[in-house]
Amino acid sequence: MLKNFWYACEFSERVGHEPQRITVLGQRLVLYRRGDGGVVCMSDLCVHRGGALSDGHLEGDCIVCPYHGWRYRPDGACDRIPANQPGVGVPRKARVDAYPTREQYGLVWAFLGDLPEAERPPLPVLSDFATPGLRALHGDYRWHAHYTRVIENGMDAAHAPFVHGGAFGNPEEPEVADYEVEIGEWSSRAAITLKPPAARGKGLWSRLYRREPKPVRTFVGFHLPNVVSLEVGLPIGRFILINFHLPVDDETTITKWVLLRDFFTQPWMDSGARKRVFKIFDQDRVVVEEQRPELLPYDIGAELHVKSDAMQIAYRKIRRRFLDRGWGIDTHRIQAENARYQAVVIPSPARREIPELAHAWVMKEVPVRQPAPERELELGRSQP
Ligand code: FES
Ligand SMILES: [Fe+2]
Repeated sequence: MLKNFWYACEFSERVGHEPQRITVLGQRLVLYRRGDGGVVCMSDLCVHRGGALSDGHLEGDCIVCPYHGWRYRPDGACDRIPANQPGVGVPRKARVDAYPTREQYGLVWAFLGDLPEAERPPLPVLSDFATPGLRALHGDYRWHAHYTRVIENGMDAAHAPFVHGGAFGNPEEPEVADYEVEIGEWSSRAAITLKPPAARGKGLWSRLYRREPKPVRTFVGFHLPNVVSLEVGLPIGRFILINFHLPVDDETTITKWVLLRDFFTQPWMDSGARKRVFKIFDQDRVVVEEQRPELLPYDIGAELHVKSDAMQIAYRKIRRRFLDRGWGIDTHRIQAENARYQAVVIPSPARREIPELAHAWVMKEVPVRQPAPERELELGRSQP
């Protein structure tokens, strides 16, 4: 799991003026909306006795802990300790980590890390959200799997004929044509052509393909840390599934999915489209939840790759650059060393941006995977 990235945490329409708990990167966070409409995201851990702020209530734009009533401003600073006598100040250490937020593509994004604004990786550019005439649907899908395995599944062309035989690809012609991967700093994309499904299935899609059995053009795009888009060129139009695979913890992923389509755009066709999305995920779940090891190996050579795996190899290499930079949260150490006696939190930008607060933090930062030694980076070990 990587810190220092923007994470799409929840659909905007679901975040209101009540505190709401979410778990991301193994950390509990609280989300709520301020009076001016902006979204607050902070650590859900009161620095007094570890109360859950998400069980508290709002007073204006502040959140009040349910245990002893400490009140925190949206920037994380405590401004009221009810048990104190009048005139007694609030200690500077009374502060929780608050994370920058944005809203885009109908989602609330939180920057889970401590980089100053100018150094933060960008949000993905998803131009289809601005394309007129596309009908949008969205929802959640929960996996009992690590998000890295779910991500790779979404960019894996070779599995389609076997796992989704009736809808994408053809089990009798499973070869994947060679494709080029375009690699950027944070992202990669490829156009991959699949054979059309055999025209003997049942249902709407097989009837469409029977009429016009042309190769299926697909576009797969990936953007760190967890966004995968898949566009399938169907005979009747574009089917674009954009997945924001939210890492809840090492065993759980919640996919926030958005489906865009330019055919059958009438609202009454939505339930069929929704069923198709869930059918795809249900088919994938059968294999993804059984993969071993559960977490994607760090070493590229730990699993065997063939040419059709080029997209996944690009993902592993791009991801490793940031693990090597020391951005990988060491969840094993958190479980082994910290969980029982010391809560840890993802550091927020205030820890770096306000020098006078440098030593004012009570909650320890999450341990990170050690950065790769300089020498290895120089040799290009982490370069794709
Ligand atoms: S635990 Fe939050 S106020 Fe005491
Ligand atoms: Fe799949």
